[in-house]
Amino acid sequence: MHPRRLITLCLLSLAPMLAGAAEVPYPDGFRNWQHVKSMILKPGHPLYEAVGGMHHIYGNKKAIQGYQANRFADGSVIVFDLFEAVDKDNAISEGARKAVVVMARDRAKFKATDGWGYQVFDAKTRKGSLDGKGQADCHACHMSQKAQDFVFSRLRD
Ligand code: HEC
Repeated sequence: MHPRRLITLCLLSLAPMLAGAAEVPYPDGFRNWQHVKSMILKPGHPLYEAVGGMHHIYGNKKAIQGYQANRFADGSVIVFDLFEAVDKDNAISEGARKAVVVMARDRAKFKATDGWGYQVFDAKTRKGSLDGKGQADCHACHMSQKAQDFVFSRLRD
């Protein structure tokens, strides 16, 4: 390989590390995963600024086993699919998708946050916007759920 190309490749593979955040991949196909629960956060809720609107939570197969066992294995992925909540004619409906918010379990990759990688993907570009500091902020709140392996939601029938 031409040395210049090799250097470019090395720099490209370094970029995520330099940004201080391990990569969480976009959760392709998550709409075929099992639904965990839904919730609407209205103005006035403490999390409204960050994740106001209607969300649906999904888990892949390993994550569903994790909900049942209260312990999530590497490879578990949980998606918090966030939409505008449109309050009209005495009904609340899904509006535009606001973001795809993800937690992915990989104990080796995400050591600093107890093995959970956090990311917020743009609804249209599917690009992640969180750096290492942002991920730490997510985890700071999820720490309160340590007894449930840092996951807030519960699986219902
Ligand atoms: C101030 C507290 C707080 C912060 C900060 C926070 N979360 Fe959460 N998160 C919650 C709560 C509460 C739920 C449960 C929502 C429900 O039950 O529907 C939740 C749920 C989730 C879920 C679904 C799995 C679970 O734990 O139930 C994901 C994925 C998630 N958050 C990702 C993130 C990401 C990524 C960030 C950082 C951008 C973040 N969270 C920051 C409180 C927080």
